[in-house]
Amino acid sequence: RSSSENRQKEGHHLAARFYHHLLINTEQGKAAYDYLIARGFSHDMLERFQLGFSPDQPQVMKGLLDKRGYNLEEMEEAGLLLRQESNWELKDRFVNRIMFPIHDVQGQVIGFGGRVLGDGEPKYLNSPETPVFKKNETLYGLHLARQHIRKRNEAVLFEGYADVIAAANAGILNAIGSLGTSLTERQAKIIRRHTERVILCFDGDNAGQQAARKAADILEQQGLTVYVALLPDQLDPDDYLKTYGADQFKTEIIDGAFPLMTFKMRFLKRGRNLQDEGEKLQYIEEVLKEVTNLPKAIERDVYLRQLAEEFSLSFDALKQEQFRIYKESE
Ligand code: GTP
Ligand code: MN
Ligand code: MN
Ligand code: MN
Ligand code: MN
Repeated sequence: RSSSENRQKEGHHLAARFYHHLLINTEQGKAAYDYLIARGFSHDMLERFQLGFSPDQPQVMKGLLDKRGYNLEEMEEAGLLLRQESNWELKDRFVNRIMFPIHDVQGQVIGFGGRVLGDGEPKYLNSPETPVFKKNETLYGLHLARQHIRKRNEAVLFEGYADVIAAANAGILNAIGSLGTSLTERQAKIIRRHTERVILCFDGDNAGQQAARKAADILEQQGLTVYVALLPDQLDPDDYLKTYGADQFKTEIIDGAFPLMTFKMRFLKRGRNLQDEGEKLQYIEEVLKEVTNLPKAIERDVYLRQLAEEFSLSFDALKQEQFRIYKESE
């Protein structure tokens, strides 16, 4: 006897295999295949991540599911089909899109991200939240990456599907993706089960950097040691890899990732003139707040000493100030 959740997963398995087949083996999928190869994904990566293509025919998946005896209402609930407003009939959710299957940690397909070919809105259409696809506890690519994450005791976390695939293409196999939404506590807890260290590698644009700051705090609260990789503005990891290659990405971006506090200090320094006494004091106060909030006592001590050194302050004065911040936040 199969539960509704099992049938939803089976439907996704069937869909993923079908979309993948169309991408790899058919004339219908050729434009999508060529697009992906032109983007720099190798054929191996299309196989590793089981990428697919949903054709420009809104009844194909519906027909296949029907033929295989699936309950179509249940597949609507699963997010594979959509009810049309005009005539109330069901049709495929994903039409004319590159399909990125999203797996649970056991490797079962539970959802999809669907990308338009080239430009168009929305760029990505994702499966809805369902009983089997819980976005706040899913990490893209974890089923493939987890053994590598354990072996290195380190995960590299990206924003986009394309970044995870480009990273794997470059031999960075401990790569996972946050699914584009802001990272959740649940996701951080899951990462912590596999490793103690995370390198955040978000897009170089403002949104990416803001998202990285938020994600960093959430990861740190779960006891992870966080590093932040900084990309040149306007480039995301996939763009960078294409422009500068795998070696430079590894040595400059990954190995050059900053410990979180160093990243925060850089962030707080931006736009401040530290020659100005007032701005300098503001900066010290801000850093002190960040240091005070660190979960590990040893780290608080290290950064307090560093701050004292950098601005020729007495360690004791900073300690006292820190004590005041503690009091205030209580
Ligand atoms: P490419 O253009 O294919 O390289 O995608 P990208 O991964 O670089 O996209 P971007 O940096 O714009 O977004 C990062 C992630 O956010 C994507 O991988 C998606 O998961 C998600 N995302 C982006 N655009 C949309 C959208 O229009 N709708 C939804 N729901 N998610 C999106
Ligand atoms: Mn295949
Ligand atoms: Mn972005
Ligand atoms: Mn991006
Ligand atoms: Mn991109």
